Amino acid sequence: DAADIQKGGFEHFMLKEIHEEPRAVRDTMAAYIKDDIQDLVKNLPDLSKYNEIHIVSCGSAMYAGMIAKSLIETKARVKVDVEIASEYRYKDPILSKDTLVLLVSQSGETADTLAALLLAKEQGIDTFAIVNVVGSSIAREAKYVAYTLAGPEIAVATTKAYCTQVALLSLIALNLAYIHNRITQKEIDQIIEEIHCLPDILNELLKDEQYITAGKIISRHSNVFFLGRGLDYALSMEGSLKLKEISYIHSEAYAAGELKHGTISLIEKGTPVIAICTDERLFEKTISNIKEVKARGANVILFVREGLNVSEDYYDYKIEIPKVDMMLQGIVTVVPLQLLSYQVANLRGCEIDQPRNLAKSVTVE
Ligand code: G6P
Repeated sequence: DAADIQKGGFEHFMLKEIHEEPRAVRDTMAAYIKDDIQDLVKNLPDLSKYNEIHIVSCGSAMYAGMIAKSLIETKARVKVDVEIASEYRYKDPILSKDTLVLLVSQSGETADTLAALLLAKEQGIDTFAIVNVVGSSIAREAKYVAYTLAGPEIAVATTKAYCTQVALLSLIALNLAYIHNRITQKEIDQIIEEIHCLPDILNELLKDEQYITAGKIISRHSNVFFLGRGLDYALSMEGSLKLKEISYIHSEAYAAGELKHGTISLIEKGTPVIAICTDERLFEKTISNIKEVKARGANVILFVREGLNVSEDYYDYKIEIPKVDMMLQGIVTVVPLQLLSYQVANLRGCEIDQPRNLAKSVTVE
């Protein structure tokens, strides 16, 4: 039927949309990167005057914001708060002329995100929206707008739109690091080169079959934990949300060092723990948390960046993530996490494209 034609040979829109990520990331990057001249970016507002950024959004868009916070604070040393839009709009946020309110939204129609934008706008604060749908309400109301070029997304659970949000936010973080003189030209050149390789790297990841094996480990369980530190924690949040949204398995993402302050009591023999380890600086710390859960019988699936060596004693199944610069690592790591969720939901026979109770875009409060 018509839907099957639209799915282009894929079983679900979600899988089709994941397979569009190499193209979506390439297009989004190409729209903003200016690699032939000294200025790094084009078509983006000048962010040099802000000393604080509030990233306000909902759901996956908020988790994309968490990745941005990690990159911007680490690399550009600009303060970033990530706020849930439905909280932000009622908390009377502390705003100043040096604050930029950055809204992230696939649809551009999310009621709470729009309300947060209007609140800032009424107070004369600059607003900048990262939106996927051209001409949407958030895009029209914001002072500045930059579009992600994911194309229309049909599956309720976002994949390619989120991936392009991460890509564009990573570019913004890179630009901020550049503006604030915290990155050398040599580093920039290297990152630009890697940006051009991203579509190929993502395409390779899509060919991999090991997500089916990993999916089988998880699919029979009703509780899963994700662990990570720093950037990997932000990635865990979205990995966990995606899994629970479409597979209906209860899942929690924990900052790896926080687990021992309570939730480790839920780890039993066989409990799946998905540990993400791409950040070299925090690698040893996360490994020691993995040892803690392993000692309590957890079934550890390790997503580890290539080049970081882990003894086989500490995991049950390993998935290697290609190594790229830290500024781009998020873009590469989201893809395997999405594929894993997809495989788990597929094995459980779930309605992947339309999970119960969820809406693609929440336009009422
Ligand atoms: C809904 C969708 C999520 C999405 C969130 C924010 O809950 O199901 O996938 O992340 O809204 O949507 P937005 O369009 O603002 O990115």
